Amino acid sequence: MADYDVIVIGAGPGGYVCAIRCAQLGLKTACVEGRATLGGTCLNVGCIPSKALLHATELLHESEVNFAKMGLVGAAPKVDVAAMQAYKQSVVDNNTKGIEFLFKKNKIDWLKGWASIPAPGKVSVDGTEHGARNIVIASGSEASSLPGVTIDEKTVVTSTGALELTSIPKRLVVIGAGVIGLEMGSVYARLGAEVTVVEFLEEITPGMDVEICKALRKTLGKQGFNFVLGAAVQGVAAGKGGPVVTYKLRKDDSVQEIAADVVLVATGRRPFTDGLGLEALGLAVTERGQIRTDAHWRTNVPGIYAIGDAIAGPMLAHKAEDEGVAVAETIAGQHGHVNYGVIPGVIYTTPEVASVGQTEEQLKAAGHDYKVGKFPFMGNARAKAYFLGDGFVKILADKATDRVLGAHIIGPAAGDMIHEICVAMEFGASAEDVARTCHAHPTFSEAVREAALACGGGAIHA
Ligand code: FAD
Ligand code: NAI
Repeated sequence: MADYDVIVIGAGPGGYVCAIRCAQLGLKTACVEGRATLGGTCLNVGCIPSKALLHATELLHESEVNFAKMGLVGAAPKVDVAAMQAYKQSVVDNNTKGIEFLFKKNKIDWLKGWASIPAPGKVSVDGTEHGARNIVIASGSEASSLPGVTIDEKTVVTSTGALELTSIPKRLVVIGAGVIGLEMGSVYARLGAEVTVVEFLEEITPGMDVEICKALRKTLGKQGFNFVLGAAVQGVAAGKGGPVVTYKLRKDDSVQEIAADVVLVATGRRPFTDGLGLEALGLAVTERGQIRTDAHWRTNVPGIYAIGDAIAGPMLAHKAEDEGVAVAETIAGQHGHVNYGVIPGVIYTTPEVASVGQTEEQLKAAGHDYKVGKFPFMGNARAKAYFLGDGFVKILADKATDRVLGAHIIGPAAGDMIHEICVAMEFGASAEDVARTCHAHPTFSEAVREAALACGGGAIHA
C-alpha cells in the first residue's frame, strides 16, 4: 500500500495550494520542499518580497513628489536600507510561516529535502523512499542565464540578488524590459539610482497591448528610467568602477558599452527540473525544458502530473495556484478546470498595469471584428485628487455581440480593478452589462464603467 494518495514536489504557489486542496478533498497528502521555508519562489524571492520593496519605495516617492502639494510639509523620510530589508524579510517570514500553519491545519506532511522520482509511484527525499499513488511535480522555475554573463548575485544579479542589495547602486543597468526589470528598476529608481534598461526588442513589456506599452514607457521615462531599445546584450565584463555591459544596436549594428555599479539580468525564467530524474523516467519535456502535459496536467508517465512554472503557459503565481486546485480535483475524480483565456497579468509599477484576455494586436491578427472603449483617468475625480490622472482603461469588445474580449488598464489600482473584467469575461458579459452596473462614486472603478460605456453610447465624463 502506498504511503500517500498524493505527493506534491515543490511548495510554491502551485505545489502548496495543490497540497491543501488535495487534503481538503480527503486525500492523504505530503509535500516535498528542499528550501528551508515553504512558499517557493513567490513567497521567498519573488512576488512577496518585491511587492514589499515596491510598497515602501512607492510611499517614499509619494512623500517626495506629492506631500507638499497637499500641505504636508516638514522633514522628508530618509532611507535606511538595512531597516527596509528587515521589513521585507519580516513580510516574507510572516507569509512562509503562514503556509506552515496551513500545512499543519490540513494535516499535510512536509517532507523536508530534495525529491527525485526513482520510478512511477515512488518519491525519494534525500535518500528516503515514499510511495505515492499520484505524484504532482510543481518544481517551479529559475532565472535564465545569458551567454557572456556571469552572475555573482552582488554586482551582476538576478532578481534574487536585486532583492537583497545592502546599498543603493548609483547606476543600475537592467537587461530586459520585462516585468522583473521594470518592477525592480522602479524600486531602485525611487531610491535614487540612475536606471538604464537595455531591451532586445523595440518596445518594453513585449506581448502586452501596444498602446499600454507605449504609455508605460512614457510614464516610467518621466520617473527617470532611461530605455535603450533594440539592443542585444553581448556580455558583461568587469570594469574599473564596476561591471560594463556591452550591447549591439540592432538598427545599425554598432557596439556600445554602458558602465554600472550593479547589473540586473532580467531576461526571463526557465523551468527548474534538476535532480528529479525525468530523463530516466522517460518523462517528456519540450525543447524549452517545460514538462509536457495534456489538458488535465497529466504527463506521459501514468500517475505523474505537472503544474505551474514547470509547464507551459504564463509564469504567474495565480496560474500555478489555479492549476494546483484543478489537478487536485482531477486526482480526486472531479472535473478540474482552468480557463486560460481569463488569466490576468499585473505589473506593479506606478501606475500599475493590468490586462486580461486579448490585446488589440491579437484581435487584429485574428481578423476579429472588434470595438474599443477607452477612458482616461484624467476624467476620474478620485484619480485626479490623488495625482494619479496618468493612464487609461481600454476595453475590447466584439463588434456584433458586444461581448467583452479583453481589457487593459494603466492607472491606479489597475491590478485590483482588472478582476471586474475577469468576472465579466467568465460570465460571458457584454460591455453594456458592465456599463449598466452601478459603480460607487468616487472610485477608480468608475473608469472601468466609463470605458465600458465608451464601447457603446459613449462615456459620460469624457
Ligand atoms: P515556485 O514558486 O518556483 O516553487 C517551486 C518550489 O519547488 C521551490 O520552492 C523549489 O525549492 C521547490 N523544488 C524544486 N525542485 C524540488 C525538488 N526536486 N525537491 C524539493 N523541492 C523542490 N508572479 C505573480 O503572479 N505575481 C507577481 O507579482 C510575481 N512577482 C515575481 C517577482 C519575482 C522577482 C519573481 C522571480 C517571480 C515573480 N512572479 C510573480 C512569478 C511567480 O513567483 C511564479 O510564477 C510562481 O512562484 C510559480 O509557482 P510554482 O509553484 O510553479 O513554482
Ligand atoms: P520577461 O519575459 O517578462 O522579460 C524578459 C525581457 O528580456 C523581454 O522583454 C526580452 O525581450 C528581454 N531580453 C531577452 N534577452 C535579452 C538580451 N539578450 N538583451 C536584452 N534584452 C533581452 O522576464 P522577466 O522580467 O525576467 O520575468 C520572468 C517571469 O517572472 C515572467 O514570466 C513573469 O511572468 C514573472 N514575473 C511576474 C511578475 C508579475 O506578475 N508582476 C513580476 C515579476 C516576474
